[in-house]
Amino acid sequence: MQLDEALKARKSVRAFKPDPVPLELVKEILDIARWSPSGTNIQPWKVHVVAGDVRRRLEEEVLAHRETDPADKIAEFPRTSKRKEPYTTRMRTLGKEMYGLLGIPKGDQAANWRQWGRNYQFFDAPVGLIFTIDKDLDAMSFLDIGIFMQSVMLAAKARGLDTCSQGAWNNFWSVTRRVLNVPEDEYIICGMSLGYADESAPVNTLIAGREPVENFATFHGFE
Ligand SMILES: Cc1cc2nc3c(=O)[nH]c(=O)nc-3n(C[C@H](O)[C@H](O)[C@H](O)COP(=O)(O)O)c2cc1C
Repeated sequence: MQLDEALKARKSVRAFKPDPVPLELVKEILDIARWSPSGTNIQPWKVHVVAGDVRRRLEEEVLAHRETDPADKIAEFPRTSKRKEPYTTRMRTLGKEMYGLLGIPKGDQAANWRQWGRNYQFFDAPVGLIFTIDKDLDAMSFLDIGIFMQSVMLAAKARGLDTCSQGAWNNFWSVTRRVLNVPEDEYIICGMSLGYADESAPVNTLIAGREPVENFATFHGFE
């Protein structure tokens, strides 16, 4: 797959087939992604790859915890859920399109809660990735992890696999930390589902739109 093609073909998939992803293939994807750049080449990414029984246990424990402590949604590192324009509109557009495809009416809190819970099942993907970072590092290293995650997603796409990045995994982090033995000096910053897309799922037809270049780029010094 050409790079431009992979960049455009990658999209967040939120329904996966149960087909397993062999360990060797996951390693191959990570082996390509490790060539991602990072500031001063510190390569701050760390990733826990979960499958099989551990993945099932993680899912069960997070979902059970979520029922007993639904408000435990505070990330361990500074985050804000406040959004201003134009971000609010973009976020709402995504929500409207996605929940429309899922057949969830606006305001149906119970269905919303259930659907958000699908994050903690990795949308049924056989492999989950949990990205962590040393607490000592600053925002620049979070950039590095983002670049690394995109490399993982593109390498996966080029191999016929799909992904969904999941900030949802920085909620309920205490459970993830315990189940995966994530050291206390690391933040759990994001998750990712990895597997084969269920092409028959309406949610996977979602193409989230993008702003045109002139809406975000300012050009200086061109004739
Ligand atoms: C850092 C990050 C965190 C995300 N977290 C979630 C999440 O928790 N759950 C989810 O369903 N999608 C999540 N997404 C997917 C975004 O909603 C998606 O990338 C965006 O709507 C653009 O759509 P596309 O990925 O299909 O192009 C996340 C994406 C990124 C980059």
